[in-house]
Amino acid sequence: MSETLCKHIAIIMDGNGRWAKKRGMPRSFGHKKGAENVVKITRAMKESGVKYLTLYAFSTENWQRSADEVAALMQLLRDYLDKEFKEIMENNVRIIFIGERDMLAKDIQQKINEVETKSAGNTALTLCIALSYGSRQEILAATKRAMALAVEDKLSADDLSAEVFSSLLYTDGIPDPDILIRTSGEQRISNYLLWQLAYTELFFTNTLWPDFEKEELMDIIAKFNNRERRYGKN
Ligand code: FPP
Repeated sequence: MSETLCKHIAIIMDGNGRWAKKRGMPRSFGHKKGAENVVKITRAMKESGVKYLTLYAFSTENWQRSADEVAALMQLLRDYLDKEFKEIMENNVRIIFIGERDMLAKDIQQKINEVETKSAGNTALTLCIALSYGSRQEILAATKRAMALAVEDKLSADDLSAEVFSSLLYTDGIPDPDILIRTSGEQRISNYLLWQLAYTELFFTNTLWPDFEKEELMDIIAKFNNRERRYGKN
């Protein structure tokens, strides 16, 4: 495969519930298949040469789902971190989390701190998991930090550039996504990376997340590379 021009892909993994419903199964079964697909797509991403993958695993709005569904999603995350950590390390993958950590159970907070620390030196792929994440909340938190810095005389209004503001977001140090993919036919951004998506190419597919495969991912990357070679960034 020729070298990709794409550094960062962000995905809204939608459609787990509908995938399960079509099979007469509970929503939690769809999430389980969705989590299995996270592993497959992460492997494919590493092969593709893309350096950053950001996945929307749980939004701030998702806390409003039924207690059972929230518990099932949190358990899947625990299982994922326990089972996949070995492969993550063997594959030189760095894992980071963005979102409101305080909202998460203490054991999950500990686990994510631990995997972030242990994988911090890995360089093949950065897997960024958006967990208890909301983009407006992130922008507000960054604004509050900028205001606090101003009060301490460490930042002036004149010095607050787009670069400085970016460095106050959870995604500090991560390039903006080149590609956003949303599965399941919905065409919304859903409070995801609103600042970071300013110049991102958007790809919407009807495929439900558990059915989204490597071939479709490679097809999207190829389309992006073609457009980029023809038109460049604008
Ligand atoms: C949207 O499907 C998906 C989610 C709310 C959660 C995504 C979570 C996973 C793929 C599994 C856990 C992740 C990791 C990293 C282990 P939906 O339930 O809104 O589907 P629907 O729109 O068809 O109801």
